[in-house]
Amino acid sequence: MCGIIGYIGSRPARNIIINGLKRLEYRGYDSAGMVLVNGETKIFKCKGRVKDLEEIVNKSNFDGTIGMGHTRWATHGEPNELNAHPQISYKGNFVVVHNGIIENYSLLKKHLQSRGVVFASETDTEVLANLIEHLYIEGDLTAEQAITLALNRVQGAYGLGIICTKEPDKIFAAKRGSPLVIGVGDGENFIASDATPIVEYTQKVVYMNDDDIAILKKDQIIFKTLKNELIEPDIKELDLKIGEIDKEGFAHFMLKEIFEQPRAIHDTFRGRVLPDRSGIMLGGLHDVLDTMSQAERIIIVACGTSWHAGLLGEYIFEEYTRIPVEVEYASEFRYRNPIIRKGDIVIAISQSGETADTLAAVKLAREKGAKVIGICNVVGSSIPRETDAGVYTHAGPEIGVASTKAFTSQVTVLAMMAFEIGHLKGIISDLFYKELITELVSIPSKIEKALKVNEQALALAKMFENTHNALYLGRGYLFPVALEGALKLKEISYIHAEGYPAAEMKHGPIALIDDNMPVVVVATKDDTYEKIINNIQEIKARKGKVIAIVTEGDEIIRKMADYVLEVPETMTVFSGLLAVIPLQLLSYHIAVLRGCNVDQPRNLAKSVTVE
Ligand code: G6P
Repeated sequence: MCGIIGYIGSRPARNIIINGLKRLEYRGYDSAGMVLVNGETKIFKCKGRVKDLEEIVNKSNFDGTIGMGHTRWATHGEPNELNAHPQISYKGNFVVVHNGIIENYSLLKKHLQSRGVVFASETDTEVLANLIEHLYIEGDLTAEQAITLALNRVQGAYGLGIICTKEPDKIFAAKRGSPLVIGVGDGENFIASDATPIVEYTQKVVYMNDDDIAILKKDQIIFKTLKNELIEPDIKELDLKIGEIDKEGFAHFMLKEIFEQPRAIHDTFRGRVLPDRSGIMLGGLHDVLDTMSQAERIIIVACGTSWHAGLLGEYIFEEYTRIPVEVEYASEFRYRNPIIRKGDIVIAISQSGETADTLAAVKLAREKGAKVIGICNVVGSSIPRETDAGVYTHAGPEIGVASTKAFTSQVTVLAMMAFEIGHLKGIISDLFYKELITELVSIPSKIEKALKVNEQALALAKMFENTHNALYLGRGYLFPVALEGALKLKEISYIHAEGYPAAEMKHGPIALIDDNMPVVVVATKDDTYEKIINNIQEIKARKGKVIAIVTEGDEIIRKMADYVLEVPETMTVFSGLLAVIPLQLLSYHIAVLRGCNVDQPRNLAKSVTVE
């Protein structure tokens, strides 16, 4: 939920920290702060965005060669300067930036207060800073000893950067539950919540493991466990280019990412579809494919947009593999003692690979003996490391908080999985397998065509920018797409929107329809086409304004609907990949017209690493 960055080296740290925070701002943006060390230690904090922090820092001439920064999404304590990070311990010896939640903070706080420690903020992070300080002073310990001891006492999740002002040639980093990456440079080293702020300085990274601590100096990094055992780091080479995390001329990351989808989908199947299109090979599933094909049941766990991709996965899997599928919100699944039988497969879907509830659901499923497969975008993130096997989506970094290309690439992976299993089980014939693959390969160019509705979507957005409510309807494969369209609108434009199965409209939402109510009907040609035509008529009979997403050349719906946005024709299984494009564009333009912060909508964060 928060983003942290740290630098230790010989260069001025200030701009490295500010630029790093800008890249991490998608993780949280209600307050920001930084510390710079250069003989003395200076802290800058503010409520608001990184640009507000930048203004404050720029008023000072101070710089340092060591620094840490933090961009916050508040959990404990309202967003204000006092609660912003870094948090400083009561004697000022420890400066802490933290992503996560210290769950037993209240007990620890009471204990420290009973020993006379006074607190300045409402944060759980200050409790940790003060615990370290207390142990440091009372136990006459080194900074490393005090930090290790404190971390052995806290419960909860953390990605941490800590500076001890008495040992100012080090940054301490520690991880449990929240992500933390160490960037290994030449005479300089970095810490960050993800690799995006590091990539312009070094391609060498270490993804920290839970309960590990790293002690960074400018030309040395020591990795240890919390039990004080030395660890040999697994240094990985990043496959990330700086251009991938820039807007590249687009007004917003979201728009860039919408337009990137042809490339993203292509990258998702590239190297996995055999050159003669006779088969699909998902390397990450090699050892589990047989087990998957014999599964009694598949349970998909995810949150947010990834959950919508999972719901679409249910339709695809049941049709092509004939394995029963249940789709669960990870947050519900993890807390209700779910029944997991031998032979069940759990598929966890997560763009970030860090969503706390999905990660916890993965751990629970494994404890209960299920084989867990991950579908994630961020390489080296926590979920892929906790699963038995998995497939990366390879969509490239998704920075816009509202997920777009992650959704289409997740659906692409689910389809590929289902086709491979269905073929293995003999449910999909060789011929049909080839037809499916051929169509899959054509999807990027069809998305390219679907993107041509951009101007029309803008024109429609101008008509509907002031609406207060919207209804999104779809049937079959297009029902999850309707849910996703509604989510896109509400999360970035703050317009209330509901997604519904079109036929269910009669059991409630139809009461909302009047001549002010835009109803977006996802009605491309598939098996449910005739039925959805009836639904459109029902809406028109109540004077609702119908915006229909249709297959190109559809004259029937064009005559009935008030407005249409066309997408190319495809097989039903891929219909969602095309139909979602106009919905993404429509919500994008409405949000821009309403003056909303599209890439960083209020109250939301890209990666929800707290439950
Ligand atoms: C947040 C993001 C959504 C995302 C969801 C799940 O709510 O704002 O865009 O769909 O988390 O994230 P994940 O990384 O697990 O896919």
